[in-house]
Amino acid sequence: MREHASNGVAHRPRLRRNLAVGAALVLATGPATLAAQPDPGPTPTATPTTAAPTGERGVELYRQHCASCHGEQGQGSQRGPSLVGVGPASVDFQVGTGRMPLPAEMPQPRRDEPVFSADEIAALVDHVASFGGGGPQIPRVVPGDLPAGREVFAANCAPCHGATGAGAALTDGRDAPPLYEATAVQIAEAVRVGPGLMPVFPSQVLTDQQVNDLTTYVRRLQNERLDRGGNPLGRLGPLAEGLVAWVATLGLLVAAARWLGRRAEG
Ligand code: HEC
Ligand code: HEC
Repeated sequence: MREHASNGVAHRPRLRRNLAVGAALVLATGPATLAAQPDPGPTPTATPTTAAPTGERGVELYRQHCASCHGEQGQGSQRGPSLVGVGPASVDFQVGTGRMPLPAEMPQPRRDEPVFSADEIAALVDHVASFGGGGPQIPRVVPGDLPAGREVFAANCAPCHGATGAGAALTDGRDAPPLYEATAVQIAEAVRVGPGLMPVFPSQVLTDQQVNDLTTYVRRLQNERLDRGGNPLGRLGPLAEGLVAWVATLGLLVAAARWLGRRAEG
């Protein structure tokens, strides 16, 4: 079971705020800023009704977007690790957070807008599972206990991701990223899968109940950050941030002109 519905709800205020900022920019600076509007998100590349059955779809997508690095049968290559036995949670996490397909060789995959629709991701998950080897399933997440989650987080996650989930540098120019974008399922997936330098927390270390508690607490951290109004420009990108700086400068110029004008009048 995926938790898309609840995640959508939780993300909406953020989006609305970004849209409001985008609209304000357009009003303030005219149509030239249209390019700075927030990314409308991934455009579905295929409609499931006209596409091949899921099995074939998965084969096709995998050949096109993954095999060059991970090998036709997921055996791995110099450009990417073996996917045999990574499990559905790992594929769903890597593709669902837009880390994969890796756009180019880079020291650490980055979160981005997902390239594929939910159906396409599911097809990829199934195809990679057909390489065999088991591995963690996509976790089922239900609301947990907040105070318990706070304790689990402080002991196991804060050392890398920081007490507020803002992220922190690790070694070799790699970092533990901020936790503000991950959905409930993606949080649980990261815990069970241990992507990159993150350790795996199997059920012997953190029970399903503890993962639910933890997920509830991380979602709270996300909401607290929204309430603080923290960096609502995060998704607009450098172009928009440059524009904001520019608009602010313009405001100063206007204020200065008024002041000079008033002095000239007086
Ligand atoms: C340009 C090469 C490249 C492409 C294309 C690519 N990957 Fe990867 N993939 C990598 C590398 C490199 C890593 C290891 C990243 C790291 O250091 O964390 C990786 C890691 C992964 C992992 C985690 C493996 C593990 O051991 O936990 C999964 C799952 C994955 N990729 C799936 C995919 C899927 C599915 C696609 C296609 C949609 C894809 N990748 C496309 C290079 C690639
Ligand atoms: C040793 C440091 C370390 C610890 C401890 C750690 N993480 Fe991570 N975490 C990372 C790194 C590094 C990544 C990025 C992986 C990659 O390269 O893709 C990450 C990624 C994540 C992501 C994905 C964020 C996103 O938006 O894509 C989530 C969610 C996450 N961690 C949650 C947790 C939770 C919850 C805990 C505690 C149970 C935890 N982490 C403990 C290092 C750590």
